[in-house]
Amino acid sequence: MNNAESLRSYWMPFTANAKFAAAPRLFSSAEGMFYTTTDGRPILDAIAGLWCVNAGHGRREITDAIKTAAETLDFVSSFQMGHPAAFELCRRLSEKAPEGKGHVFLSNSGSEAVDTALKIARGYHRSRGEPSRTRFVGRARAYHGMGWAGLSVGGIGRHRRDFEPLLPQVSHMRHPYDPQKSGFSRGLPEWGADFANDLENVLAVHDPTTVAAVIVEPVAGSTGVFAPPRGYLERLRQICDKHGILLIFDEVITGFGRLGSTFAAKRFGVTPDIITCAKGLSNGAAPIGATIARPFIYDTWMNGARDAIEFSHGYTYSGHPLSCAAALATMDVFDKEDLWTRGLGIEQMFEDAAHDLADRNCVRDVRNIGLLAAIDLEPEPGKPGVRAQQVNAACFEAGVLIRTTGDTLMISPPIVAEPAQIDRIFSTLRNAIGTIA
Ligand SMILES: Cc1ncc(COP(=O)(O)O)c(C=O)c1O
Repeated sequence: MNNAESLRSYWMPFTANAKFAAAPRLFSSAEGMFYTTTDGRPILDAIAGLWCVNAGHGRREITDAIKTAAETLDFVSSFQMGHPAAFELCRRLSEKAPEGKGHVFLSNSGSEAVDTALKIARGYHRSRGEPSRTRFVGRARAYHGMGWAGLSVGGIGRHRRDFEPLLPQVSHMRHPYDPQKSGFSRGLPEWGADFANDLENVLAVHDPTTVAAVIVEPVAGSTGVFAPPRGYLERLRQICDKHGILLIFDEVITGFGRLGSTFAAKRFGVTPDIITCAKGLSNGAAPIGATIARPFIYDTWMNGARDAIEFSHGYTYSGHPLSCAAALATMDVFDKEDLWTRGLGIEQMFEDAAHDLADRNCVRDVRNIGLLAAIDLEPEPGKPGVRAQQVNAACFEAGVLIRTTGDTLMISPPIVAEPAQIDRIFSTLRNAIGTIA
C-alpha cells in the first residue's frame, strides 16, 4: 500500500498527488478526538476531519443508526416517493432554522446545497413575475464548494482559473478584512462594517431588479476564518430588503454548534432567506447537504398547477436513508449533550490559547470565533505556503492534525474537545512554529 505506484489509481481531490504518493498520510480508524494512522500512531484531530466531525469520531449512536438503516431500507428514491426519516429530518431541521420554520431540500454535499440554493433563488423570482432577477452577488475569497454555480459565486482565483468561463452575471464584493485595521481580532472585528456598502456599489452598476441573491459565508471558513465585522451582516440584510434581493448564508461550516449555536444566523441575530448546511449535519458520517428556505420562498414556488413538478431539480441520493439516519442520530446527540451551545463554554479559553501565539515572531495575525481559529504566518521570502506546510508537518509529527491554506494555519476541533486537548493543540502549534520560524 505504501508503494508510491499503487497509490496513483486514486486521483485525489485537492491534493498534490505526486507529493502525497511519496509520503502518504493514511488513517485506519478514528475514535473520539483521535485518528489512528495505518502505522498505529494516535493523532489528535484539531480540525474535526474537515470541519465536520463536530460531535467527535466514532459516535456509536450515529454508526448504529446508519447500520440499522442499511439493514432495513438500503435505498429508496426521493423522486415521487419517500421514507419517513427524510420527512422527520426536514421537520427537525426546519425547527432549528432562525425563525423555527422553513422548508428543506436535501442533497449530498455542501456544493450541492449551494447550487440548490442559487436555483431556488432564481426560480423564486421567476415564479413571482420577476424573471429579470438572474444576477448573483458573491464575495472575494469566498468558498461555496466546487459545483459550477458555487465556484462562480466563490472568490478564490486559484480555484476558478482552470475552469473559466464560469456562470455569467455574477458580481463580487470585496473580502471584508484589512490586517492593518482588524488584525488580531477576538470574535467580531470592530472595524469594517462599511464593506457591506460594496453591495450598494454593485447595485449602482447593475440594476437592482436584475439581482436574484447575495450569498456569503457568515464567517468565511476555509479561506482562513474571517468573522464578519460588527454590523456588516446587518447592513447586507438591510440592503437586500431594500431592493427585494434574497440573502443566502452558506453555513456549511458555521452551522451545527461550530459557533455555539444551531446556525451562525442565530448567533449573529441576522435572518437570511436561505441557509445551506452539510458537514456537521451528519457529523461527517454520511454524505448529506441541506438547503433551508423561508416559508415565503417555498410558498411562491408552490403556486403552480397541482399536478406539475414545481422544482425540476434533485439528486438520486437526495434524502438517502443512510444519510438521513446519520443526520437524525447526530441531532439526537446534539440535543442530548447540548452540543448546539457547548462551544460557548470553551470559546474563551480557546480564544486565549489561540492568541497566546501572537508573540511568536513570524505570526502576522490571529483570528477566532466560536471554535474556529486561524493564525497567519509571515511567508518565507519567495516561497509562499512553505512555512505553513512545515508547521503542519511538524504538528503531524507531534501527533496533532491541523489544516493550512497558503501561509494560514487553521484550527477547528470537534466541539466535544476538552480544555486539556485544546491546550495540547496550541502548545504543539507553539512548538512547531518555534522550530520552523
Ligand atoms: C462554506 C462552504 N460551502 C460549501 C462547501 C462545499 O461543501 P462540500 O465539500 O461538501 O461540497 C464548503 C466546504 O468546505 C464550505 O466550507
